[in-house]
Amino acid sequence: MMDIAWGSDEELTDKQFYNRISDIEFISGLLDSTRYGSSPTILLTGVRGVGKTVLMKKLKKDLGKDYLICYVNLTSSNTYQMGKLQRMDIIKIIYNELINSAEEKGLNTLNQKLKKIIRTQNIKIDKLLNFEGIPIPITSLEEDYPKLSEFVMNLPQKLYEEYSDEIKGVFIFFDEFQNIKDLDDEMDAFLWYLRSKVQSQKNVAYLFSGSMSLKDKLIEDIAGKEGAFGGRILTIEIKPFNYVTTKNYLENNASDLQFTKDGIKRFYNCTKGVPFYINIFAKLLPVNEKMNEEKIIKYFKKSLPILGTHLINQWGKLTYQEQRIITSLIDEPLKRVDIAKSLNVTSGSISHSLNSLQNKILIELNNGKYEITDSILKYWLKNYYKERKVYPYRSM
Ligand SMILES: Nc1ncnc2c1ncn2[C@@H]1O[C@H](COP(=O)(O)OP(=O)(O)OP(=O)(O)O)[C@@H](O)[C@H]1O
Ligand SMILES: [Mg+2]
Repeated sequence: MMDIAWGSDEELTDKQFYNRISDIEFISGLLDSTRYGSSPTILLTGVRGVGKTVLMKKLKKDLGKDYLICYVNLTSSNTYQMGKLQRMDIIKIIYNELINSAEEKGLNTLNQKLKKIIRTQNIKIDKLLNFEGIPIPITSLEEDYPKLSEFVMNLPQKLYEEYSDEIKGVFIFFDEFQNIKDLDDEMDAFLWYLRSKVQSQKNVAYLFSGSMSLKDKLIEDIAGKEGAFGGRILTIEIKPFNYVTTKNYLENNASDLQFTKDGIKRFYNCTKGVPFYINIFAKLLPVNEKMNEEKIIKYFKKSLPILGTHLINQWGKLTYQEQRIITSLIDEPLKRVDIAKSLNVTSGSISHSLNSLQNKILIELNNGKYEITDSILKYWLKNYYKERKVYPYRSM
């Protein structure tokens, strides 16, 4: 029996979704305190592919009966795809998603209530555009950003007040929140603005998540002592599966796979318990054949280009200097001066590349030394070199 999700799936069936029982209990418990008017603000962290998005979708499914839950993905905007996300876009995404989820939830007479809220908000909006029956306040562009954002950001609490018979509160889930970095100079102001809104809404809980490294400055900007939400946000790290969980998961959901004791240990070692890698690797292994350590290593090497597709895509877009920095870190973490030395350049001349690699979460700074964040990238490069005696550098 094989019931394993694809690595790109966001909505898993109950059978496919494994474990996370204590995470779900803990986060649900926090979120559910919203019904008493003490709504938490949560920052969900965890390495890429650990299962943050599927966990949020699962929470949405589990708690959607009592709450209006709005899942906002900052990469869903058109402007984001064109590479220039602005505050206005974020506000628009939130509005669209709020309306979508309110409709999905089947809240009664949404249109009338929205119109009423718009009226009582006392915003002088040029006209009320109707889009498929949904009122959309249209303001005359950029200078009206403050008005529109006030309206949208106050809307969750207003919706709760209008529908307090039907819902116990509103949750806003922000995924891919790291893309807020695109706001550049405006990011800080936006975070502080967001916090003022988050704080003033008793019946609305916020949960932020995204691909961020634990060392990420963004986490510091959000949750650090001096950060916008400093001290008021609960940071929860979603961890990879441990060895026992990984083993049980495979026995449960991929019983067609057979391992020797060393084989399963090696499997865990290769995937580091990250569900994204576990699922892809498990799907690539032959069924009904006993996998020992040696075979796992063989298949792992063969699978690296597929396991690392997303990383290899990123690699291909790096500059030559960025690629050189990464390969300098394959054997061991290095200080900045030592990276510079191995590239034969001055330490100052690599700071831009280091920053850019950190922003892409390809490397992270740990106790003064830089290291490659994801071991799959490291293994892929190592293996590439072993087979061809060169690294896949971009041609200059
Ligand atoms: N609890 C789970 N049970 C089974 N499979 C899981 C679980 N969590 C995650 N997965 C698998 O891992 C994949 C990646 O999960 P997800 O997209 O939620 O990771 P993420 O932490 O949001 O990653 P990113 O930081 O890149 O956004 C899923 O598509 C699924 O195949
Ligand atoms: Mg995700």
